[in-house]
Amino acid sequence: MQTSETLEQIEREARERLNPSLSNPSWLVLSRRREILREWLSRLPSGNICVLDVGGRLQPYRPFLQHRATRYLALDPRYTPLVNVVGRGEQIPFASDTFDFVICTQMLGYAPEPARVIAEIHRVLKPGGCLFLSVPSIYPCDSEFDAWRYMRCSLRLILAPFRHAEILAERTSISGLFRSINVWLVMFARPRMLGTCLRFTVVPVLNLAAAGLELLFPTTDDSFSANFSAWAQK
Ligand SMILES: C[S@@+](CC[C@H](N)C(=O)[O-])C[C@H]1O[C@@H](n2cnc3c(N)ncnc32)[C@H](O)[C@@H]1O
Repeated sequence: MQTSETLEQIEREARERLNPSLSNPSWLVLSRRREILREWLSRLPSGNICVLDVGGRLQPYRPFLQHRATRYLALDPRYTPLVNVVGRGEQIPFASDTFDFVICTQMLGYAPEPARVIAEIHRVLKPGGCLFLSVPSIYPCDSEFDAWRYMRCSLRLILAPFRHAEILAERTSISGLFRSINVWLVMFARPRMLGTCLRFTVVPVLNLAAAGLELLFPTTDDSFSANFSAWAQK
């Protein structure tokens, strides 16, 4: 599939995911995912690694890995100048035990057969290799290909082939609620101009309010968390 996106547009989108602005309706989850990934990456053994990005059309987290990746390959059914292999995670065209690290962020909601994607990622990872996964739990359907949402339990089940898996909510139910309001305001406000206005006025306030409330009322409740991160080792 060809793309109409320019490299500049792709890089801009990737930067906004890695370092989201406060006016981003997903600031709460994106900023937390960055912290989680940075912390988990410190567990990787030192030395050079071979990386596969499944759903790697944008590669927002590549800057975290770039300096130590001997190879950073991206697979995606949608071609962009950053994609090395146009293909699907359900059928990864690499030999078994090839990669030290696989990253798969915000892609598994769109995969027709998510368990098959995970089985393929497990296959291409070297023994001891690791997967970083992030998946949506609460988000409006955003395209005709948007198929799945994940709970802590679905992640445990889907990651069963791995010998060790750890799951973390990208913030608590408080943030889940405020993030959902943000997304709703920006996506559904009409006329569209109103959505843009809300994005630069109400959204930053809600983002800061949620972060503040989480500090004031610490909770581990993640039953309404908007997104989950997972780390799994083969
Ligand atoms: C929301 S984007 C996420 C992009 C990037 N990983 C990120 O975190 O910003 C989802 C990506 O998954 C890709 N995708 C959808 N179905 C896929 C599949 N079955 N196998 C691999 N990639 C897929 C889409 O083309 C899209 O580029």
